[in-house]
Amino acid sequence: MVNSKMDGVPKLHEAFKGHFKIGAAVNPRTLTAQRELLAHHFNSVTAENEMKFERLHPAEAQYTFEHADRLTAFAKDRGMGVRGHTLVWHNQTPDWVFENGDGGAASRQTLLARMKSHINTVVSRYKGSIYAWDVVNEAVSDKNGELLRPSKWRDIAGEDFIAKAFEYAHEADPEARLYYNDYNESVPEKREKIYALVKSLKEQGVPVHGIGLQAHWNLERPSVDDIREAIERYASLGMTLQITELDVSVFLHDDRRTDLTAPEEGMLERQAERYERIFRLFKEYAANIDSVTFWGAADDYTWLDNFPVRGRKNWPLLFDAEHNPKPSFWSVMEITRS
Ligand code: GLA
Repeated sequence: MVNSKMDGVPKLHEAFKGHFKIGAAVNPRTLTAQRELLAHHFNSVTAENEMKFERLHPAEAQYTFEHADRLTAFAKDRGMGVRGHTLVWHNQTPDWVFENGDGGAASRQTLLARMKSHINTVVSRYKGSIYAWDVVNEAVSDKNGELLRPSKWRDIAGEDFIAKAFEYAHEADPEARLYYNDYNESVPEKREKIYALVKSLKEQGVPVHGIGLQAHWNLERPSVDDIREAIERYASLGMTLQITELDVSVFLHDDRRTDLTAPEEGMLERQAERYERIFRLFKEYAANIDSVTFWGAADDYTWLDNFPVRGRKNWPLLFDAEHNPKPSFWSVMEITRS
């Protein structure tokens, strides 16, 4: 057998066995390019894009499951779990869903019927192979004083589109754990809105089982205290939590430099300290958190290379572009020893 660069490197998912699953977002390219790394360190995968509405259901009479099927087969062959992402979202959803065929808006009834049919088809297809679904993604507003963001889902179907989505998903697979997923989840003002939304769903008897904390974070923000508060607040609803899209940008949000081709002096060390504090916290709350998914696996591919600053290379994950462990990997492994 050829020597592998994974030889002798402890497996991340084994280190957290008994605490939570360790996941990565993948796409058709990384599923091949990062195959060995994924199989070694991760026991859960999420489709970065391939299970979104526009990818699975581009036209009313057309479903395209090829890439999503490949991903679930990859996971099954290796005994990995799959997190489903995402059924109802204001982005990456084709226009036909919201239109009536004459260029006008669909009625509430038509939109809900389409939602039901989409959810039923997709969730039933992957029944038994997906352990948790992000049923509704990012419905809460970032604006002060506004609970739900304006969207075609909300504006056409009404605010109960959220409850309906969970009900349809539960009907299609009563075993799947159903999640509400959002970003800026640890910012106190938004945290309270997410809390209020999920609390009200629960009180109405809606089958929602967990809250997904996207966790697109950076070297400083949010503070560990704010993350702790968010975990405690959400867990107080009796919900299971999953960290669904973790990455730690080496830049602060307003750093617009696009000229770095390698991390600056000290950046990776600061990132390692940050990851260590974050994972200590996750481990402390392991009774409430059942999976931690990174939004990517290694720095050769990250959506942060283009967001929020176009063309700014970033190094947000635990493995470098050659799939070697970074200082962040070793600092995360270190905490499993104490
Ligand atoms: C959000 C979505 C993800 C992904 C990221 C950016 O967090 O939930 O699916 O699109 O934005 O890549």
